[in-house]
Amino acid sequence: MSKFQISLIQNKPEKEEMYYQRWLVLRKPINMEKGTERDKYDEDYSSLHFIAVCEEQIIGSARLRKLSTELGSIAYLAVSPEFQLQGIGTALIKKIIEIAKQKQLESLRVMTRISAYKFYKKVGFIETGEVFQFLGIPHQFMYFNLLSSE
Ligand SMILES: CC(C)(COP(=O)(O)OP(=O)(O)OC[C@H]1O[C@@H](n2cnc3c(N)ncnc32)[C@H](O)[C@@H]1OP(=O)(O)O)[C@@H](O)C(=O)NCCC(=O)NCCS
Repeated sequence: MSKFQISLIQNKPEKEEMYYQRWLVLRKPINMEKGTERDKYDEDYSSLHFIAVCEEQIIGSARLRKLSTELGSIAYLAVSPEFQLQGIGTALIKKIIEIAKQKQLESLRVMTRISAYKFYKKVGFIETGEVFQFLGIPHQFMYFNLLSSE
């Protein structure tokens, strides 16, 4: 098992390393170019970028963005392949849940790939609506209720 720490992005070089790790995990495998891993919300003041770091290397990342006073959105959860299934994705989501509660949000939404559906189900998310295609991959919206969890 790898030792890792969860933290928030502190500076520009760290942010660029995070984007690269995001691209490697979420875009390169589907033949998408560098730059396609970013969107216009990444620089929003309400976007928080969380990273998992092991031996000074970013091995996991995820973004929390406030959509309204009640609703937060999780996007781009990515754990590097060689570090998957070691609890890092769970640790990132738990940290996001903790911060979302501090911000008094009431629920979290994620648009997840179906391949990660069981992961989100295990951490307490509930699916809603139909499966749909995004980037040629089946996706599903899922929600986490921050008011009814411990
Ligand atoms: C999905 C992902 C974030 C999970 O992170 P992780 O660090 O590997 O997950 P964890 O080790 O915290 O796993 C927690 C539990 O979920 C299960 N799980 C994790 N990924 C799973 C998957 N793809 N399918 C089924 N179960 C999965 C684990 O077996 C574990 O179960 P357990 O508690 O019974 O042992 C990671 O595999 C990943 O980045 N995948 C590629 C990109 C992706 O799909 N991102 C999210 C959707 S856009």
